[in-house]
Amino acid sequence: MSPAADELLDRIHSHRARAGVVGLGYVGLPLAVELARAGFHTVGIDVDPRKVDAVNRGTSYIPDVREAEVAELVRAGRLKATTSFGAVSTLDTINICVPTPLRKTKDPDMSYVAGAVDGIAQHLHPGMLVILESTTYPGTTEEFVQPKLEAGGLKAGVDFFLAFSPERVDPGNPTFNTHNVPKVVGGIDPDSTALAGALYSSAIERIVPVSSPQVAEMVKLLENTFRAVNIGLANEIALMCDRLGVDVWEVVTAAATKPFGFMPFFPGPGLGGHCIPIDPFYLSWKAKQSGFDSRFIELAGSINGAMPHFVVGKVADALNRQQKSINGSTVLVLGVAYKRDIDDIRESPSLDVMTLLDQKGANVLYSDPYVPVLTSDHWHGGDKIVHDLTSEPLTAAAIAKADCVVILTDHRVVDYAMVQAEAKAVIDTRNAIKGHHANVFKLGAPGPAPAHEPAKAVA
Ligand SMILES: NC(=O)c1ccc[n+]([C@@H]2O[C@H](COP(=O)([O-])OP(=O)(O)OC[C@H]3O[C@@H](n4cnc5c(N)ncnc54)[C@H](O)[C@@H]3O)[C@@H](O)[C@H]2O)c1
Repeated sequence: MSPAADELLDRIHSHRARAGVVGLGYVGLPLAVELARAGFHTVGIDVDPRKVDAVNRGTSYIPDVREAEVAELVRAGRLKATTSFGAVSTLDTINICVPTPLRKTKDPDMSYVAGAVDGIAQHLHPGMLVILESTTYPGTTEEFVQPKLEAGGLKAGVDFFLAFSPERVDPGNPTFNTHNVPKVVGGIDPDSTALAGALYSSAIERIVPVSSPQVAEMVKLLENTFRAVNIGLANEIALMCDRLGVDVWEVVTAAATKPFGFMPFFPGPGLGGHCIPIDPFYLSWKAKQSGFDSRFIELAGSINGAMPHFVVGKVADALNRQQKSINGSTVLVLGVAYKRDIDDIRESPSLDVMTLLDQKGANVLYSDPYVPVLTSDHWHGGDKIVHDLTSEPLTAAAIAKADCVVILTDHRVVDYAMVQAEAKAVIDTRNAIKGHHANVFKLGAPGPAPAHEPAKAVA
């Protein structure tokens, strides 16, 4: 190990190192809290002054981060936040946790990473460790981040250290959190890997070193592509079951009893969240540069992307049974967060379903205990009246008033027995309502028998 690396390692082991986190969102705030809890003086840097103020007031805006913990760390002087990259000059380590979305063209939008790295580069000093955590295409750390950091004259691997370590946090998961999910770490050289591993091992139970940043970048994309492709398969099987009149939920649940060689994935109204619908396209974009066609990724994207349309078709069928059309009907959507028990609506398929229903003339309402307000720019609002919406209180009267209720996200706090009992018709895309009922139309399962034989054509 070089003398500079040795010195930083000593500072990390003795907890004298000052740690920084750029981007205090779903990933960055929990990490900053873990580092501060581990005993490092930690500074969070974010361009959003509201988040910075919230942290400095000792409050939390991320459900998985306990407010009392933030308050205690701030009070003890171990955690603070700022909008100024000037703080970098006082830090020994810095983790970058900024967004990596897609552009409309499905190309990577690297502007947030560029902004963060340029901010750090202005105050980079010898002996620092920089770790990129944002999910991104293989090659980013060495091809994109390293040249920006070296622009001021310092050399990676000599004057400062550089690694990639993917974030694997699963918001809302009560069992696995930043602390107990193994951390994959790939540095640009052995010193960088060792230093990043040492920093994380103060706060995280298990470190998995790999041979390069590129391997670490690829690990994350494999994990998320695995999910996107398997959800795509589950959705295709659901469409098949729907056509064949077989209950896909019963099929997957029974298949999951096989103790080896099978892992259950369930269908749904489409992909959501900041990761699964986006990350595979970072990989296919990069592969395309080498003339490689990522067929599984494209196919899964196309199946998953079509699910909101299929759900709207189910709504039309359910209304048809009542001799109603989507146009003019009141449709109550249950759950707009992209998955259960969280408040994150990024890329949520519920927004697509609501927009499609709105475009077809439905009076769209929603209820989500975690999302009190949806502004028009969140859900697009079709091309007629673009309006903000407020979550409906989920009362028996509100359910009974709707022509159709659509369960898109199955938050656990909702009383689904009440929904089933009160609704005229329910489209259940999550198997939230157990058993078969005359008013429940499940995604990927036989629908209820029609009350009357459909009218036969007269010969
Ligand atoms: N949310 C997840 O479940 C999850 C899981 C694994 C990996 N990731 C990845 O982690 C990264 C961060 O995701 P997130 O969900 O925490 O995003 P987020 O939007 O919740 O938080 C990002 C934060 O970065 C800040 N920011 C943006 N540009 C900045 C800049 N130039 N300088 C300083 N701050 C800046 C934003 O204000 C925001 O507070 C993404 O690459 C994402 O793909 C997210």
